[in-house]
Amino acid sequence: MEQRRVGVVGAGTMGNGIAHVFAKAGFAVLLCEVNEAAMERGLATIRTNLDREAAKGKVDPAEVPGIMARVQPVRSLVGLAGCELVVEAATERLAVKQEILSGLDEVLRPEAVIASNTSSISITKLAAGTKRPDKVIGMHFFNPVPVMALVEVIRGLQTSDETFARVREIALALGKTPVEVNDAAGFVSNRVLMPMINEAIFAVMEGVATAEAVDEVFRLGMAHPMGPLTLADFIGLDVCLDIMRVLEEGMGDPKYRPCPLLVRMVDAGWLGRKSGRGFYRHG
Ligand code: CAA
Repeated sequence: MEQRRVGVVGAGTMGNGIAHVFAKAGFAVLLCEVNEAAMERGLATIRTNLDREAAKGKVDPAEVPGIMARVQPVRSLVGLAGCELVVEAATERLAVKQEILSGLDEVLRPEAVIASNTSSISITKLAAGTKRPDKVIGMHFFNPVPVMALVEVIRGLQTSDETFARVREIALALGKTPVEVNDAAGFVSNRVLMPMINEAIFAVMEGVATAEAVDEVFRLGMAHPMGPLTLADFIGLDVCLDIMRVLEEGMGDPKYRPCPLLVRMVDAGWLGRKSGRGFYRHG
């Protein structure tokens, strides 16, 4: 049987995780990243996470070299031409994603599907910039991608039933559970998660409780694996702020206004785990 070939654009946290799960499921993966250092970091992270899975007995250690060999680095979108599906996992900026999608639209075969891993940008808007809006869809993975079972599959206004069915089948082939949602600001995941995180930040700002206390309430009272402020540090406070702004603008409702403390922390460069400081100190 011919090996199925997919592309992933961006080797950052989400991109390398997505490449990891495709390769582990037997797909040939072309990982496209223009920044050489980011490519090296992405490939090293896949290797570390596969070794971690091997140590836990979730992957046969003898299979790790073969899985790594299925991830081939490419430096430009042209290299993705033969893929049946490309998942875009680049920076969460409309202009960046629009440029990548129109580039993919030029190089991919007409029947290929373009999926975006955007966490909040409108799929309908991204699709409209291509000549194949029926074949553009959201495939929203969750961090850490090898661990989290969900793929939120977002249908833009013009996404066809056939595209949805193909992406659903691919998500199942990855061992993930696809959940269908329609295109609206924040989809379902971030429409519900981010206001909760934002409200937790208001509670800290107003002195209702410390960050530690808020997190303990959620870990012990609601069995969340991480409290909302630990999770905010994990996601990145800049990402949380961007998503709150998308919700505020998309809904036109002041209940989605970002907490001023969140804005101040992002202004200070306290972005959470990746910058070494957020609600907690890291590293
Ligand atoms: N790759 C592979 N395996 C990994 C991994 C990775 N990157 N990170 C963790 N793991 C594995 C560990 O090996 C471990 O395996 P076992 O269960 O076999 O022991 C398991 O995951 C749990 O990890 P740990 O024991 O190290 O730590 P933990 O129990 O504290 O779990 C966690 C870590 C999985 C991250 C857990 O804290 C968790 O689920 N947190 C919530 C994560 C979450 O909500 N993610 C969604 C964020 S929102 C998003 O991504 C989208 C958006 O649009 C903002």
